[in-house]
Amino acid sequence: MTKKFYITTPIYYVNARPHIGHAYTTLACDTIARRQRMMGFDTFFLTGTDEHGQKIQRAAEAAGKTPQQLTDEVSAEFRALWDRMGVTYDDYIRTTSDRHKRGVQELWRRIRDNGYIYKGSYTGQYCVFDELYVDVVGPGAPCPECGRPTETVKEENYFFKLSAFTEQLLDLYTGQPDIIRPETRRNEVIAFVRSGLRDLSVSRSSLSWGIPVPDDPKHVIYVWFDALANYITALGYGSDDDSKYKQYWPADVHMVGKEIVRFHCVYWPALLMAARLPVPKSIVAHGWLLFEESKMSKSRGNIVRTETILDVLGADALRYFLLREVVFGQDGSFSFDALVQRYNSDLANGLGNLASRTLAMITRYFKGEVPYPSGAAARRPADDVIVKLAQKTISEYHGLFEQYQFSRALESAWGLIAAVDKYIVENEPWALAEKPDENNRARLATVLYTSADALRIVTALAHPVMPDATAKIWAQLGLGDIRKFPLADLRWGQLHLGTKLGKVEPVFPRADKSAVERMQKMEEQDRTAAVAEAQPASTAAESGASQAVPQLAEPQKTVAPIAASDGKITIDDFAKVELRVALVKVAEKVKGADKLLRLEVDLGTEVRQIVAGLAEAYAPESLIGRKVVIVANLQPRKLRGLESNGMIVAASPEDGKPVLAGFLEDVPIGARLK
Ligand code: MSP
Repeated sequence: MTKKFYITTPIYYVNARPHIGHAYTTLACDTIARRQRMMGFDTFFLTGTDEHGQKIQRAAEAAGKTPQQLTDEVSAEFRALWDRMGVTYDDYIRTTSDRHKRGVQELWRRIRDNGYIYKGSYTGQYCVFDELYVDVVGPGAPCPECGRPTETVKEENYFFKLSAFTEQLLDLYTGQPDIIRPETRRNEVIAFVRSGLRDLSVSRSSLSWGIPVPDDPKHVIYVWFDALANYITALGYGSDDDSKYKQYWPADVHMVGKEIVRFHCVYWPALLMAARLPVPKSIVAHGWLLFEESKMSKSRGNIVRTETILDVLGADALRYFLLREVVFGQDGSFSFDALVQRYNSDLANGLGNLASRTLAMITRYFKGEVPYPSGAAARRPADDVIVKLAQKTISEYHGLFEQYQFSRALESAWGLIAAVDKYIVENEPWALAEKPDENNRARLATVLYTSADALRIVTALAHPVMPDATAKIWAQLGLGDIRKFPLADLRWGQLHLGTKLGKVEPVFPRADKSAVERMQKMEEQDRTAAVAEAQPASTAAESGASQAVPQLAEPQKTVAPIAASDGKITIDDFAKVELRVALVKVAEKVKGADKLLRLEVDLGTEVRQIVAGLAEAYAPESLIGRKVVIVANLQPRKLRGLESNGMIVAASPEDGKPVLAGFLEDVPIGARLK
């Protein structure tokens, strides 16, 4: 009987557009799902969007849309992106769909009827950003998870008897040791559960954007209860047709980012236990993708859009980079430089070059038909070294992949590419072809067969990671549809004599330096457009001095307004503002704007254009050569058609002119203020 395999991504919040952090999880799951299919598993891969709750309701208000409008738009955007990248999801669940709502209510009833839901009231703090009830004291106290200010919630709620599951959960972690991976996350979860579990509030009565509690529609179901249930509602749990649920549940892998481990490893299994349903087989947590050293997120304004990379280098390059560069489970940095460097070294010069040189030589010297090594006389020990290495690579690669060690698995496969490259150089097939006596011909056949079969093996192994490029190489090898190849049977020597090659074409054209610049430019343009859309140009600059006051990052404004009643921010909030010393190189008036100056300031590492409301206080010439303080990590915005990349800091007396901040002692350009 075919074994089944069910894998899920988290369902993504629709308060913001997708970025490569989301793509990272989805692509990792897609890679695993593709590989499992090739290995012969009956695979089901689920993704979707999380559309209820306060965070979404507020984002919709801020955008001047109804929650339904916002969720329809953003959910479609996520889906279109996955489609564009050829993500092979089998179903896409939206939590606003009827099938989901029905299933969630059924799960609620079942848990309630089993005696694990009771009515109470909650007074305490809530973090809207994480949609999390938190155990901290006082209005505005920072959320222990994300550091953002919490809000006080005081309302009648339903509670889930989480505390009743402490022992069962601990038994689960011991009895099913692989349930939480990696080990570090497992230890954290165990420590959290051991420290004592409190009952969990699972409904909200001060909010309407959610699924009504069965038999008490004044309450809506807590968004995490709602969201976690997607993993079974998508399979038809609670509907007339639950055949998929029977076929695929429990999930084999819930893939998640490390920040949502607790929801998946504590709350979710406990809810399932309370409903007397099977718990998932494993929850695999990966680290964060960092950009400019902090977690990529809309709130920090440091996201990179997936589309930019797709436009310039294509999906395969992104997939390979993310899985090769980031050690799965740990945080990893993203940069355009590193992406292009990896692309050139491993894809253009690595796999791409091996494919084109090997296939071109077979085309030239053997009329495009795979030659076969003829006789022992034509064999050398070097050939066997490649055969052995290829065999070792196959088993090593499978083992590492199954342990989610994608980076090491790819490293091992690319080790084979490097060995074959060296083998080709040392055995000089081109020289053998020049003196085509019988011996040389046999030797040439051996060298090219050995190279081509190694290429075939790497191509098959890499297919789940880079589906498009490998499908092309496979077709060029004359092997048809790679998706049909049974990966579990991959062995040396399956390339048959006389196989006719397809048309040989390069799959990874080299990327030049301009690729990085193009991607950076696209991102800048996108950020500028997003700012312009969110903020009409007239608001900021024309008001002159007010522009010189630093603003905190965006979510505090739109998604989770600062709730602190005393108006204080945390040190982490302050640390988000990057204040730096800069030298004014150019200053001039902006045509048609009385208050604006266009400045070019030197930060030591770059020169930036800033448009500032200083014209009424300073003559442009007086600013040239002066050191000023700027907010360096502000999203760019357009003022009078000019891009402004940062903000000059100035004191802003109530009804006087702005006065620039400066220093009594000399300070180096670029120094950070903290
Ligand atoms: N809606 C919840 C999940 C509910 S699942 C039942 C949620 N949504 S989210 O939109 O915030 O997505 C979080 C997930 O997106 C992370 O757990 C991770 O899988 C992925 N990532 C988002 N940003 C990321 C990075 N910067 N780096 C790595 N993964 C990231 O939480």
